[in-house]
Amino acid sequence: MANTKKLWSGRFSKGAAKLLDEFNSSLGFDKRLYKEDVECSMAYALALLSARIISQKEASKITNGLKRIKSQIDSKGEKWFLENKGEDIHTVIENKLINLIGETGKKLHTGRSRNDQVVTDVRLWFKKELKEIIVLTEILRNTFIKIAKKHYKTVMPGYTHLQQAQPVTLGHHLLAYEQKLSRDLERLNECLNRTDILTLGSGALAGSGFPINRNLLAKKLGFKKISENSIDAVSDRDFIAEGLFSIALLNIHLSQWAEEMILWSTEEFGFIEISDAYATGSSMMPQKKNPDIPELVRGKTGRLVGNLTAMLNILKGLPLAYNKDLQEDKELVLDSVDNIKIVLKISNEFLQNIVFNKDRMLISVSNSFSNATEAADYLTKKGVPFRIAHGVTGKAVLYCIKNKKLLKDLTQNEWKKFHNLFGNDIIEKIKANGCLNSRKIHGGTASEQVLKAANRAKKKRF
Ligand code: ARG
Repeated sequence: MANTKKLWSGRFSKGAAKLLDEFNSSLGFDKRLYKEDVECSMAYALALLSARIISQKEASKITNGLKRIKSQIDSKGEKWFLENKGEDIHTVIENKLINLIGETGKKLHTGRSRNDQVVTDVRLWFKKELKEIIVLTEILRNTFIKIAKKHYKTVMPGYTHLQQAQPVTLGHHLLAYEQKLSRDLERLNECLNRTDILTLGSGALAGSGFPINRNLLAKKLGFKKISENSIDAVSDRDFIAEGLFSIALLNIHLSQWAEEMILWSTEEFGFIEISDAYATGSSMMPQKKNPDIPELVRGKTGRLVGNLTAMLNILKGLPLAYNKDLQEDKELVLDSVDNIKIVLKISNEFLQNIVFNKDRMLISVSNSFSNATEAADYLTKKGVPFRIAHGVTGKAVLYCIKNKKLLKDLTQNEWKKFHNLFGNDIIEKIKANGCLNSRKIHGGTASEQVLKAANRAKKKRF
């Protein structure tokens, strides 16, 4: 590669060191932006034409040349890049254009710098990817809603500190993830908005020296707005940092869910059965059925958070405007995008194929003290101050533990011994359904509220 033509060779009297090329080159990864690079250049040629910098004939020559390059890469793929080497995707395409159409090709870069070109390419690419990630997140969110709706009455233990806390419905639990994904979708859409800005026309940093119609360019390339400050435009990578954060947090949410899927599929919990098509076996232990998918979903969080922190570190302390450090943004964002897309796709299929063991969930919740809060609330509703009701119920729990019983096993007489306001109805009230029914508040776990929440969620648009 040391012998490939440099765009900047004019000022240099010596060729580049081999190691410089190897260290400096980004082609290995930014070749994935070839479609966007060609698209931007075609639009730019038209902008040069409307500013009367090039003629109609020259514009057509450039456009046709670029089209040829794109279809060559489309069909040859990796092979094309073995034949056409260079510092980065912009250099390779420009050199190829000159090679194909001759002198006219040398006019394309008029008033443009790779500094405004690269960030325009990345924005164009990232917009498309963000839209895909948004669609995949919406699909997964809809699956959560669908299953939650099916289980709006299914009782399961709710946890705090991973200790049984209070009965909830499975639908309510699943809708908690719907809410997390809703916020992820809001964040991704906001990020998309801030990505949707045309930076071309900023030149190297000071603004193009040619009267390019930037609004026309924005329209042609489908950008909503144009950037306001050329120095900011070539140095700003906030949209990538925000995107990496939104993707990392989305995966963190999925890792929380994945962790539960792993736990729930254990013999100890037994709340779910993972479909055979989405589980793996052990090479040694014949009985094993392993939850590799949720484990990998959980594990991917490491690299996604890593990509975010790497990007933030690259940006820290960078003087204005463009610095080569910024080239390091691309592998991070490519990696995060690739990984979150497959995580979203497989999570959706995995979730759709889970069988919930309702009986195990009910047995689990019935054999616990997760109805204790309900007993305390019962007294409180009869006028006993909550702190006292809490203490009384605590004593009842202690009594049960000592006598190897549960609250549901206590007789009317036993309840009365703890407080004379415990009436006949306490036995019904502390059954799992009794606990659920008293949480009819908006956002609560009563079945009717869960059904309403699922219907509200279904109607929400992003
Ligand atoms: N490959 C470079 C990047 O990804 C393109 C911009 C190079 N600009 C420059 N002045 N060397 O950032």
